[in-house]
Amino acid sequence: MENSIREIREKALAGLAEVRDTAGLEQLRVNILGKKGELTGILRGMGQLPADKRPAMGQLVNEARAAIEEALERRLSELRAREKDARLKAEAIDVTLPVEKRTMGAVHPVFSCMEEMIDIFVGMGYEVVEGPEVEFDHYNFELLNLPKNHPARDAQDTFYVDDNIVLRTHTSPVQARIMTTRRPPIRVICPGRVYRADEADATHSPVFHQMEGLVIDEGVTMGDLKGTLDQFAARLFGEGVSTRFRPSYFPFTEPSAEVDIPCANCKGAGCRMCKGTGFIEVLGSGMVNPKVLDMCGIDSRRYSGFAFGMGIERMALLKYNIPGLRLMYENDLRFLSQFR
Ligand code: PHE
Repeated sequence: MENSIREIREKALAGLAEVRDTAGLEQLRVNILGKKGELTGILRGMGQLPADKRPAMGQLVNEARAAIEEALERRLSELRAREKDARLKAEAIDVTLPVEKRTMGAVHPVFSCMEEMIDIFVGMGYEVVEGPEVEFDHYNFELLNLPKNHPARDAQDTFYVDDNIVLRTHTSPVQARIMTTRRPPIRVICPGRVYRADEADATHSPVFHQMEGLVIDEGVTMGDLKGTLDQFAARLFGEGVSTRFRPSYFPFTEPSAEVDIPCANCKGAGCRMCKGTGFIEVLGSGMVNPKVLDMCGIDSRRYSGFAFGMGIERMALLKYNIPGLRLMYENDLRFLSQFR
């Protein structure tokens, strides 16, 4: 028995040196000192010894136990320290590493231009109103003095959903909705997407954006329209830019005018961009046709108003001097990131 005690003691101490982690150490402790451990087994066997040998043997076991426990304790703190070191090392962050650069998104030029246009009109006291993109024929055409079979309907290549529903071809149906639901004074702008069955090319896209303007009150004149648009052009394109009105035709305005600004490229001298005219057409406008006012339930003998509608892409092309419409839709980051 003496020998096995010594053996156990030596084996334990040797095992301690070899053990690599706290889990292994615990296993070792259980194997030797646990309930079913080797040393515990010896203690149990003591009952079989003659009574006079028990005290000496008991002392031997206790010494072995104390020695092993002390060694275990020492090894445990050693291994704990080592494991903590390893964990700290694994969790370490090198604060001197270069930071990964994150690129910020940018507002699309169509939208930054639209926001600027909205700001200008809001500054003049206009309210922003939106309407549905899938629209009744009634608002898109009929209330705007474009009855079925009216020849001017051909000018707008319409996407029909069914006989009575279209993808709106302009933002003008929003003014029809406003005029049927509100009473003057009215002063609104209506930005939004519009649709036309056009092939996409340098100047066309089946989807684009427009902004409608509508003012109705007593005594509103074409002079107010001209003053408003001059003010708008100067704010958007720069001091000194004013508008030129050309007589035109829209069924919902009478009289109607197409509005030009001087060509920024040649300053009015005439170049390829303005086809030699020195001017670039930017929008359609006019005095709200009294027939339209009456159809919408606004008394045309008492009230008058003006309306205008412009393409936002076209404004953005001119404002940022962008050479073609396609760039607006291709989502080429090399192009878009310049607007950051
Ligand atoms: N709705 C017309 C268009 O899309 C523009 C316009 C609006 C003209 C308001 C006159 C008045 O071409």
